[in-house]
Amino acid sequence: MDLLADYFEHIQEMPVFPDVQPKFLTSLFDEPLPETSSPTAQVLKEIKEKLLPFCTHVGHPGYMGLITPSPNPVGVIADFICSALNQNIGAYSIGPAGVAMERQTISWLTGLVGYGQQAGGNLTSGGMMANFIGLKLARDWASGDRAQQDGIEGRWAVYTSEERHVSVDKAVDAVGLGRTALRALPADAEFRVRLDALEAAIAEDKKRSVRPMCIVGIFGTTNTGAVDSIRELRKIADRESMWLHADAAYGGGMLLSNEHPFRDRGLELADSITIDPHKWFYAPLDAGALLVKDETRLTASFGMKPSYLTDEMDQGKERYQYYVHSFEQSRRFRGLKVWMSFKRYGARLIGEWIDNNVRQAQHLYSLVANHAEFEAASNPPMSAICIRYRAGNLNQGDSKRLHALVVERVEKSGKFWISTTELKGKTWFRINPVNFRTQMIHIEQLLTLLEVECRATLQSVAN
Ligand SMILES: Cc1ncc(COP(=O)(O)O)c(C=O)c1O
Repeated sequence: MDLLADYFEHIQEMPVFPDVQPKFLTSLFDEPLPETSSPTAQVLKEIKEKLLPFCTHVGHPGYMGLITPSPNPVGVIADFICSALNQNIGAYSIGPAGVAMERQTISWLTGLVGYGQQAGGNLTSGGMMANFIGLKLARDWASGDRAQQDGIEGRWAVYTSEERHVSVDKAVDAVGLGRTALRALPADAEFRVRLDALEAAIAEDKKRSVRPMCIVGIFGTTNTGAVDSIRELRKIADRESMWLHADAAYGGGMLLSNEHPFRDRGLELADSITIDPHKWFYAPLDAGALLVKDETRLTASFGMKPSYLTDEMDQGKERYQYYVHSFEQSRRFRGLKVWMSFKRYGARLIGEWIDNNVRQAQHLYSLVANHAEFEAASNPPMSAICIRYRAGNLNQGDSKRLHALVVERVEKSGKFWISTTELKGKTWFRINPVNFRTQMIHIEQLLTLLEVECRATLQSVAN
């Protein structure tokens, strides 16, 4: 605990990313399996010397990269307690109070998205697993609950935006449809899926006897936080008897915002929803969630009961057995950190952190809007913003090289960490504060650093 208290106290003084080569790290840990014991103090000393200096300090205010939050301190303590108790939430008999707390946590989340009493869900390892479960629920429902036994017959299709996260592709593959069953549809200027393209793709599939199975709407895209029109997607899904899954892995955080709560965007109309407390609820990894409007769909999809898991003490059928209602069996007591985070900070304070991150992205947008050398991809509805260096009129190849060189220099600076991405055929810096330590000043300092590094790099790329 002292080690961690010290770590958090001095986190702002460390370089966000270590100046170290992968080879050095491999050699640092290269040793044979220890045959004999060592004192704990010795092992912790190694952690202090070999691990701490070479981490990506996601809690540093300059970390604005791939979506991993500054973990809230109570969530860290929760994980400590969780490991000590080692409750296995897969079965009631290995964690009765843990199961009840996770059920309550899920109930808070279903209430937040606007679902009713029939709703349920699971905490998962993350959005990837939640999207997989969502697609499995879709497949099983669309098959009249035959696919669980027989697989699927014929060709089926899933529709989503070109701006989806790759977890959707993996999920379509994992439920046995094959990646070519995914129709990645073009997005509009605001990066929302184009409904005309969706209608055209459905019509084309039906002409070729391909069955439309599911639409995956994105509620907060990874690149720009764009929100698809869930209401319109619902209408189309109903007309075509399709399941509607919404990926709110990142954007679900906006439901806690005090200033732009996004509760009027129709998220509750989706049949199932991915939402990740380990993204914008600032819970430490791992805590994703799959929510479903009708909880009985989980049982229909997964409900197997092997004899060795029989709970003889459950004659009254009052014990909730997660293994019957989910894909995972042995699993960590993830509910604890989400439960403790809500209890300690409350939805309103977490909402303030979220609103600060949104304001930071909007501030960067307004700085860039008046900037001769930079442009933004869109006005950010959330905290993810993409900007690019447009000075020098570089061709796409040179521009890609410039952006790659600049993020490398930013990483080396030790002050910030950001990534790059591709949007509409161009390369961009992707900047995404999901961090309660980031302040406006850090945004301004980041832009100043980008100005300096882009100008310096432009000269070398242009020569
Ligand atoms: C929109 C979206 N969906 C799904 C995922 C995957 O979530 P995870 O990394 O928790 O598996 C991400 C990750 O960034 C995401 O942005």
